[in-house]
Amino acid sequence: MFIALTRGVPPSIDRCELTHVSREPIDFARAIEQHGAYERALVRLGCRVEHLPELPDLPDSVFVEDAAVVFDEVAVIARPGAESRRAEVPSVVDALSAYRDVRFIDGPATLDGGDVLVDRRRVYIGASARTNADAARQLAALLSRFGYTVIAIPVRGCLHLKSAVTLAAPETLVLNPDLVEPAAFDGVQLIHVDPSEPMAANVLQVGDMTLCATAYPRTRARLEAHGIRVEALDATEVAKAEGALTCCSIILRA
Ligand code: GLY
Repeated sequence: MFIALTRGVPPSIDRCELTHVSREPIDFARAIEQHGAYERALVRLGCRVEHLPELPDLPDSVFVEDAAVVFDEVAVIARPGAESRRAEVPSVVDALSAYRDVRFIDGPATLDGGDVLVDRRRVYIGASARTNADAARQLAALLSRFGYTVIAIPVRGCLHLKSAVTLAAPETLVLNPDLVEPAAFDGVQLIHVDPSEPMAANVLQVGDMTLCATAYPRTRARLEAHGIRVEALDATEVAKAEGALTCCSIILRA
């Protein structure tokens, strides 16, 4: 059983932060509909969805993943690299305090949860515009007592590490080799995105199922060819806000 923390799409989402995509109009009603379908998919996959308080004036507040990284032993509270996003964090601290000991990344370090990819006892942390080396050092210090190894990974041409690579199945990563160096992921099975779908690397594995965006059928076929069970969801509106499937939840073992 998992708990999935989510937060509703704010009406201000069209004023979100953007780094590598051009601003396009976001269909708010469609974004709400797609977010509802995402939450229903999480329930089908065994999550109890817990809604965080709405933050209508914080344009990126639907992207809860960036506020914390949760392990079985501890929750590490992030310090988002975009100052406009720091007010999203306190309600995530409140929610996670019920389930885990919480530890904090201290300023001036910055860390977005979207830059942290956990695969068993390996924790990959993106060196991105949002997450810096000081945060990687702090994360390594917080996690070493639990036996995790933290590995810094340079990211290019995209917002977060998890824009470039995510866990598709146990010990199996899906990645775009133009955005992150495959050799950094030693000893793990790698599936490359279809070259015509450069943003397809963000998938969300929950239990024995992996959610991917319907916009990327060729990459989905690659995952299925590796025996991965996939369910596709529309995520067109969060994609315009430079978000994707992992961004919209924090999933923890209950
Ligand atoms: N719009 C997503 C982010 O910049 O964090």
